[in-house]
Amino acid sequence: MSNVISASHLTLAYNKGRKEVIKDVSFTIKKGEFVFITGPSGSGKSTLLKSLYGQLKPSEGDLVVGGLDLVNVKQKKLQDLRTHLGIIFQDYKLINEWTVAKNVVLPLMIAGYSVEVQNTQAQRLLKHVKLAEHANKFPLELSGGEQQRVGVARALAKNPVVILADEPTGNLDDYSSNVIWDLMENACQQLETTVLVVTHKIPTVFSLPYRHFIIENRGVYEVH
Ligand SMILES: Nc1ncnc2c1ncn2[C@@H]1O[C@H](COP(=O)(O)OP(=O)(O)O)[C@@H](O)[C@H]1O
Ligand SMILES: [Mg+2]
Repeated sequence: MSNVISASHLTLAYNKGRKEVIKDVSFTIKKGEFVFITGPSGSGKSTLLKSLYGQLKPSEGDLVVGGLDLVNVKQKKLQDLRTHLGIIFQDYKLINEWTVAKNVVLPLMIAGYSVEVQNTQAQRLLKHVKLAEHANKFPLELSGGEQQRVGVARALAKNPVVILADEPTGNLDDYSSNVIWDLMENACQQLETTVLVVTHKIPTVFSLPYRHFIIENRGVYEVH
């Protein structure tokens, strides 16, 4: 099995290297693995995800994601990488002037897929997140949990190689949280999507095998 993510002696820092958040960590993640990341507030969970989608350059060490060397990457290549990532934030970042269906297919529109493909994919995904009947509503007509499910559907629209999610179920009700965990489990199991999720609570009902990383005191430790 091939490594989708490989970090070697990775150091992540702000303020021109003066504030080190992650120090000299090494780990690899293979295709199709599901990884939960936990750790105290301010420990660097979001910082680590940022580095994985190329928003923060490593200050030391090596970092390779999807075969791309993120230490020496050019901006153009970074754009290519991001089209293969499904990124989910805690705030949904939906476009409020667009319908739910149009929000979901945004990545497909950008990639130039036909309207037929867009429609088929939108219907399929909205069914998965239990929002089929809300396709033509606008985000602000939905609850927070429903909006986040739209965000997750959008992140999965292009069958990404890697899903990076930062506290996706942070403030959500149990029903919406379960729908989101289900969807991520399905992607991982059926499409061999690699999934990294920062969460304060690992779901109690979870059927796939998974890895658990804890970020603490600038280190990344795996729980075995
Ligand atoms: N853009 C930034 N500039 C400087 N420091 C930052 C920045 N973003 C985060 N930090 C600091 O880095 C540390 C880790 O933050 P973060 O990765 O957001 O933690 P977590 O997601 O685990 O709560 C914190 O001390 C935070 O204040
Ligand atoms: Mg965070």
